[in-house]
Parts: sequence; structure tokens; C-alpha cells
Amino acid sequence: MQTIYFTTSDDDLRKAGAIIAAGGLVAFPTETVYGLGADALSPSAAKDTYAAKGRPSDNPLIVHISVFEQIQAIAEEVPAVAKTLSDAFWPGPLTMVFKKKPIVPDETTGGLPTVAVRLPDSEATRKLIDYAGTPVSGPSANLSGHPSPTSWQHCSHDLDGKVDGIIMGDPCRGGIESTVLDLTGDALQVLRPGLITPAMITEATGLPCGYDPAILGRPEPSLRPKAPGMKYKHYAPKADMILYSGEPDKVRTTIDEEASRQRAQGKKVAVLLYGDEETSLVAREFFAKLREADDQNVDLILAAALPAGEQLAFSVMNRMLKAAGYRVVEV
Ligand code: TXA
Ligand code: MG
Repeated sequence: MQTIYFTTSDDDLRKAGAIIAAGGLVAFPTETVYGLGADALSPSAAKDTYAAKGRPSDNPLIVHISVFEQIQAIAEEVPAVAKTLSDAFWPGPLTMVFKKKPIVPDETTGGLPTVAVRLPDSEATRKLIDYAGTPVSGPSANLSGHPSPTSWQHCSHDLDGKVDGIIMGDPCRGGIESTVLDLTGDALQVLRPGLITPAMITEATGLPCGYDPAILGRPEPSLRPKAPGMKYKHYAPKADMILYSGEPDKVRTTIDEEASRQRAQGKKVAVLLYGDEETSLVAREFFAKLREADDQNVDLILAAALPAGEQLAFSVMNRMLKAAGYRVVEV
């Protein structure tokens, strides 16, 4: 298939929306990562999405809407707190999980009785959803197992020839996928950590908010994460990756020494150190750095871990640990 590249002009977004309305697949920008858009109410579009990504079909898709009221069409029992959260964080990197209406097919939700909904902060993408005339499902627009795409070029690298269109929007400001928050339980619970932290959710709602215990450590078969996607170990680069945790100066020296040792043995090594960079900047660049390393055929990535304890750092570390296959050296 010949992939069409769209700009964010109204005309192009209308054409791209028509492709989605007709059952096709179009990659779209968001503030977190690029998504692979399809008609969220079409079982066959969901199947095509799984096929294009090479993704297991038990891993449900996030459904993107352009205005809050659209929730009513796809979700059952929308609690009042959803509006509070929408006012505080939408458009933005928060996904809320509700009981689904029957109109949302099992193919979209991976067989779950719930639906994950998000209102993204990209004007182009909200227009795309309007032109499609339907809620738009959007898993990250990468091949399954690859790092998530934070630019249209990343989408093109993974999906050119496999999808109908790619929108050439801005690079993503957030860089890690949205926070997934469960609203179906007795208490608010984060199923996937992201830029919106439990502390921010509590501040906005006055309600306690914790993490699904299954996401606090390495994926264990005995603890089943409520977000099925969290059971997968990797957002992996091709290179081996090792994280170094401890006092920053010591981490730096240890990584430098190990890099020299490996290079002396003929290995191509990439080093990820962040200095005084804000955690949000580390988040923005992390997946792109993994892809750069792959493009340069790096054998080994040596990376500094982020300080434990801080919630935003925990969200980024969640991706770092997966990319490193949970290999952490304490120095
Ligand atoms: O930032 C994002 O969320 C991006 C952009 C494109 O919006 N999308 C994204 O989608 O990361 P994806 O498919 O790569 O990840 C969706 C995550 C998976 O971990 C999945 O298991 C979880 O959300 N999820 C989806 N629907 C769910 C549901 N009904 N209940 C629990 N978890 C759900
Ligand atoms: Mg993904």
C-alpha cells in the first residue's frame, strides 16, 4: 500500500478524516506520542490496526474524542469526577477508563467490558476526529515492541507502506504515553504512569489516587496488571540497555569507565546522562534517543536511572526499566 503523507491543513485533515471514516488507518500527532488512528466503532478497523502494528489483539486500544460530551456515546456510568478531571487535564495526557457502551466493539477493547478514553491536546488531531465523524482509536503508531514514536518520521520508519496515511504534525512535547486512570473501581487508580501523576489527580479532585500494585515492580505473572499493555516487558531498542542507579557523580564515572571498557572491545556504545535536565525534558527525548541508537547500530546503551520516589521520574523510569529489560546496576 502507498502511504499518503498529510500536512495539518484543513483540506488535508478532511481527506485524512474521510480515510478513517471509510475504515482506513491514519497516524496522527498528540502531545504524548503519535497514535495510529482508526474508526473506534469498527471491528474490522481494529483488526487492521492490530495487524499493521503486529500487536496482540488482547491489548485494548485507547479511544480519542474531540469534545468531552462525546464520552456519553461510548461510556456507561460516567461519574462526576470525570468532568472534574476533564476540566483540570483535558485536552491533555490523561486517559480515563469507563464501563463501555455496547456500541464499542470488543475488538477495540481487547474483549474488556471497559473503554479507555482520551481527549488529546493537538488541534489538528481534534479536527481529524471531527472530520472522521467517529471516535478514533489510537494505539501508539509504532511496530509492536519498538519504542513509541514521538515524531511523524518515527511513524514513517515503522509503518510506511502498512498504513493509509501519516499526518506530518509537530514532534511530541510530552514524549511518554498518557497516564491511564481507572474510574470503574472504588478508588481512583493509575494503571499506567504518565505525565499526570497521582498527586496531581488528588490535587484536582480531592480524592485519594494510587497505582495499580501490579505496575510498581517488574511484570510478574502472579500480579496481573489491569492495563493489559503493562504486562509486556519491552519498549525495546535493538541494543542492550543497562541502567545505573546511585549517587550522580558515581553513576557518571561508572558509566564512563564501562563505556571505555566496552569500546575497547569494539562495541558501539551510547551513553544517556541527563545532568540537570528537567525530568519532563528527559521524558520528551527518551524514545527518540532509543531510536537514534538503533539507527546508528549501537550495541549497548548505558543510561543513568532517575531518582526513585518522585512521581514524574517514576513514570519515565517505568519506560526506562522496560527498555532495559529491568537490568539495573546499583553503584
Ligand atoms: O498517549 C497515549 O495514550 C497514546 C496516544 C496515541 O494517545 N496511545 C497509547 O496507546 O499509548 P497504546 O495502545 O500504545 O497503549 C494503551 C494502553 C495499554 O497499556 C492498554 O493496555 C491500556 O492503555 N488500555 C486501553 N484500554 C484499556 C482498558 N479498557 N482498561 C485498561 N487498560 C486499557
Ligand atoms: Mg504503545
